[in-house]
Amino acid sequence: MAKDRVQQLYDPGAFHEMGHKLIDQLSRYLTEAQKGEARVLPFISPVKMLEFWKGFPHSDSVEELVAEMLKHTTNVHHPLYMGHQVAPPLPLASLMALLGGFLNNGMAVYEMGMAPTAMERIVTDWLCAQIGYKTSSRGILTSGGTLANLTALLSARRNAVADDIWNQGYNGGLAILVSEAAHYCVDRAARIMGLGEAGVLKVPVLEDFSMDTSKLPEIYEAARQKGLTPFAIVGSAPCTATGSYDDLEALAEFAAARKLWFHVDGAHGGPAVLSEKYRFLVRGMEGADSVVIDGHKMMGMPVITTALLFADGATSYNTFSQEAEYLLADTLEEDWFNGAKRTFECTKLTSALSWYAVLNTYGEGIFEAYLNRQYDLAQTFAKRIRNRPDWELACKPQSNILCFRWAPSGIPPETLDDLNARLRAQVLEEGRFYIVQTRLKGKLYLRTSLMNPFTEIANLEELLDYLEDKGIKLLNP
Ligand SMILES: Cc1ncc(COP(=O)(O)O)c(C=O)c1O
Repeated sequence: MAKDRVQQLYDPGAFHEMGHKLIDQLSRYLTEAQKGEARVLPFISPVKMLEFWKGFPHSDSVEELVAEMLKHTTNVHHPLYMGHQVAPPLPLASLMALLGGFLNNGMAVYEMGMAPTAMERIVTDWLCAQIGYKTSSRGILTSGGTLANLTALLSARRNAVADDIWNQGYNGGLAILVSEAAHYCVDRAARIMGLGEAGVLKVPVLEDFSMDTSKLPEIYEAARQKGLTPFAIVGSAPCTATGSYDDLEALAEFAAARKLWFHVDGAHGGPAVLSEKYRFLVRGMEGADSVVIDGHKMMGMPVITTALLFADGATSYNTFSQEAEYLLADTLEEDWFNGAKRTFECTKLTSALSWYAVLNTYGEGIFEAYLNRQYDLAQTFAKRIRNRPDWELACKPQSNILCFRWAPSGIPPETLDDLNARLRAQVLEEGRFYIVQTRLKGKLYLRTSLMNPFTEIANLEELLDYLEDKGIKLLNP
């Protein structure tokens, strides 16, 4: 029987041909990226980009479409990519994402994702063990640090607050404690939960941008006096802007003494727990009730791959219901394999495929090697910045994130923000490097996240030379 129009699109031969061409194109792209050829970010304004794709001619050749896509995206595989905290994904992990997209097993129930469900259990059990959690711990994979932090705070409220908010609704009066430098998604999660501005108790930071834990008792007591009930405290491991780690040991102690839920947002630097050299940064994480780790940041995974781990697995089963749906109906067996009971999503990505394949194929040491390399590089880069007379570091880097600015002598300090903003605008426009900017304690800084395993210290010296050259031209037009 002749195939209809839709059926023809599933032709295995055509798929084979398209797939091979795509992989050829991507392999060439990777080769060129590693050589540092082409611009890392061929920036085009949003309006022009929209016009381009609206006017893109119809073509039967997917090759052309992909070629144009590759020309119009940010090249995270380029050694001069040092912008946002997104990993250049391990090629194997990307292939697994392709496989996941092909299989489209939606994960909502076990039958719709049998292999990835088992893999998810293996990966999350492994992460829990690395943190130092007991075997009663459990994790889930979910779609991003933002959603994982919200889910963790919902679990916190469910487990650390006596009221039945799930069924009765919220009458106000609850609060969380979090550093003022934490990622904005924590604040957003609290507001989604109805806590409002008053329910987010922002703790000031020290000079190094980590939470000033000495302020905690006073903030906590003041909140109680006002009639608020803090129920959770969130530690950043590290915070986004400067990559500074909160003192998780101090937070664990504070939380335990007041029976608060202790959550660690380790979206970026939680994987330090896998490094013998940098594990000290997350000391105290083992005392957390829940921990978030993004695979797509420091673990070489494609977006979007996030683990949410619970010290006591049972607490993860009642986040989205009043009763802990921990056991299968009529049995004493734990219902770990119907993941949607514990996740926000019903259908979700099979991101476990990527994580499991990398662990299984390369072994766990690969994550430590990557993190050590990138964190070491940041230390060396900081030394080079300090050795240059006209540069300022916002603080000593603790991870692979650095904030710095050009501050040539003789320039009025009040013009430095503008000067550095113009420098970053030029970097973006030319697209040779990709760096970002951030505002810290009222001052504008340039910011790099050293995500690419091909970035060398010579590239970073090249960046500083380039910026100085641009800066001198800006000052002497
Ligand atoms: C510390 C921290 N938490 C949470 C997030 C949000 O994670 P995602 O982008 O995966 O939603 C980020 C993102 O940069 C982050 O740095």
